[in-house]
Amino acid sequence: MSRDPRSASAARAEVIGRISSVNGSQSIVDLAATTTAGEKPTVGKFMGLMSTKALIIGLITEIAEQPTSGTVGGQTFRKVARLDLIGELRADNGAQIFQRGVTEYPNIGDSACMLTESDLRLVYGGADGDHAHIGNLQQNTNIHVHIDIDNLVSRHFAILGATGVGKSSGVAIILNKILETRPNLRIFLVDPHNEYGRCFGEKANVLNPRNLRLPFWLFNFEETVDAFFGGRPGVEEEVEILSEVIPLAKAAYLQYRNGGDRNPLAKKRDPGDAGFTADTPVPYRIEDLINILDNRMGKLENRSRAVVFHKLIGRIQTFRNHPRYAFMFENANIGGDTMAEILGSLFRLPPDGKPMTIMQLAGFPAEVVDSVVSVLCRMAFDFGLWSDGVAPLLFVCEEAHRYAPADKTIGFGPTKRALSRIAKEGRKYGVFLGLVTQRPAEIDATIISQCSTLFVMRLSNDRDQNLIRSAVSDAAANLLAFIPSLGVREVFTFGSGVALPTRMRFQELAEAQRPSSEASGNTRSDAGTSMNKDLLTSVIDRWRSATMSHRAGDDDFNDYGDTPSLQPAPQPAATYAPPPAPSAPSMYAAPPPSPRGEALRSSLLKKPLDANSFGNPQPGSTPGFPSRFTK
Ligand SMILES: Nc1ncnc2c1ncn2[C@@H]1O[C@H](COP(=O)(O)OP(=O)(O)OP(=O)(O)O)[C@@H](O)[C@H]1O
Ligand SMILES: [Mg+2]
Repeated sequence: MSRDPRSASAARAEVIGRISSVNGSQSIVDLAATTTAGEKPTVGKFMGLMSTKALIIGLITEIAEQPTSGTVGGQTFRKVARLDLIGELRADNGAQIFQRGVTEYPNIGDSACMLTESDLRLVYGGADGDHAHIGNLQQNTNIHVHIDIDNLVSRHFAILGATGVGKSSGVAIILNKILETRPNLRIFLVDPHNEYGRCFGEKANVLNPRNLRLPFWLFNFEETVDAFFGGRPGVEEEVEILSEVIPLAKAAYLQYRNGGDRNPLAKKRDPGDAGFTADTPVPYRIEDLINILDNRMGKLENRSRAVVFHKLIGRIQTFRNHPRYAFMFENANIGGDTMAEILGSLFRLPPDGKPMTIMQLAGFPAEVVDSVVSVLCRMAFDFGLWSDGVAPLLFVCEEAHRYAPADKTIGFGPTKRALSRIAKEGRKYGVFLGLVTQRPAEIDATIISQCSTLFVMRLSNDRDQNLIRSAVSDAAANLLAFIPSLGVREVFTFGSGVALPTRMRFQELAEAQRPSSEASGNTRSDAGTSMNKDLLTSVIDRWRSATMSHRAGDDDFNDYGDTPSLQPAPQPAATYAPPPAPSAPSMYAAPPPSPRGEALRSSLLKKPLDANSFGNPQPGSTPGFPSRFTK
């Protein structure tokens, strides 16, 4: 039996045209005026060009009618198809194989046919240990599209599309396939809307403010400042003082751990000798930090300088004592240097049957979400860097435009830098990136350009479409005209993870695995029947928390002093006593009028209805939300 793809295809497919022009990677086919009933050539489908050694695969980018020359009397037209040549099927050691790119160009007069099902199956391969089925070809739904897991993951990928088109469901499909085919690859998913909790079953460890332990001492200096100052730029003088005292507190802790005197002030030796910087990820105690500040303040003669110290101490204490930041402070110093334990739990080392972490952000105080994401991103990269990529990790970030915005005036610099490092250098250290966004044009272009596989879903905005156009090859760019009209689940896939630029439809995701806000799930299924006291308490907590965000200006250090709290804050252990807080308004008083009241209420209603998981405003929804998200 002949293995020549040309003859094989010729036997199976009807010739529907002949090549009339070949120009670089493009070709024009004169289509026969009439064909028998078969597949019609339309834009986005594949044709085969029968050259001597291979069946060259062309993607139809244009179908047109052109006037024929030399006709006398009434004009006649010919139908032509413009193709981008993108791959070939050729015989190799007796078997037919698909390869990208064209090794031998077709000739004028060569026959053209539509690709048959068996040709398409060869192109899109089968599911095996390295390839996973994620959806079906749009032009022929019998054809399964398989992604190359290694190419997809190791060269970063992005899923882009307007709201509601199926991005998160696509993420759930792709990550589930990765978990199946690469059980040892660890996955870290940043989940800003708490929607993935149930998508990965037992394979994922779900973290939220209730069970996350992220000690404040793991924050680098910029992240610490961002947290202490509630997402605003720090006050310069206070920041300068902090940069001096944090290394001292770290040295004090070291001395204490080494059996020295617990009180750093009793030591005669300069604690600065320990060589720590404000960024070194070693433990220190807030008590030591405050003692050092207090001591320095006591020695000052300049009163205005003392006020700066005073404010800084107050700021730190208020932050530390607020129950919403318990994930940073509770047990932060118990167990000494717990960095290994924390890294192990965050990045699943060892995986213990759960190679994935879902980091649910919706319950975190809005002011610290950025610094938390920054710490996690940075640690993911640093762990890869310092371990020389010994334990590969895929870092997937939903709503990526928030964390890596193109606009330099918004977003949190350190998070963007951390994501950018993963995008640019992560591959070398086994740290891979998956980005998901509704607004590709708002993501830093250098980060998105590092993503070698793009899943592009419906996008109607011109800026977004232009960005995609600039990011993909010419062949793929011709298909982008479809993007505004794609349906839910439909996606154009380009790049190294897929054999050819492909218009496909994601698999149907089982209801139980679909990402959805826990809130909508709860209300739909339990409304009326499960309205127990816990749920009511949750609702009231959430309601009140809307008025609990700190709103103080930069020079009001006691950011939370005027904020009613549902629980009495623990007493600070420091010697310094802050001045009495201004009289607190009753927590039962009506909330202050807010111009965004209605928007705030509706966004709060989308939050998870879980007794413990909220109590904190959603990003973008609170009066005290950092200004960087609200241009
Ligand atoms: N692969 C799929 N299988 C089944 N249903 C799907 C699939 N993709 C999308 N859907 C349906 O479309 C809805 C929206 O999908 P999804 O939440 O994935 O969109 P999204 O692009 O992530 O939206 P948003 O930008 O608002 O986060 C889902 O709730 C589901 O009903
Ligand atoms: Mg989504």
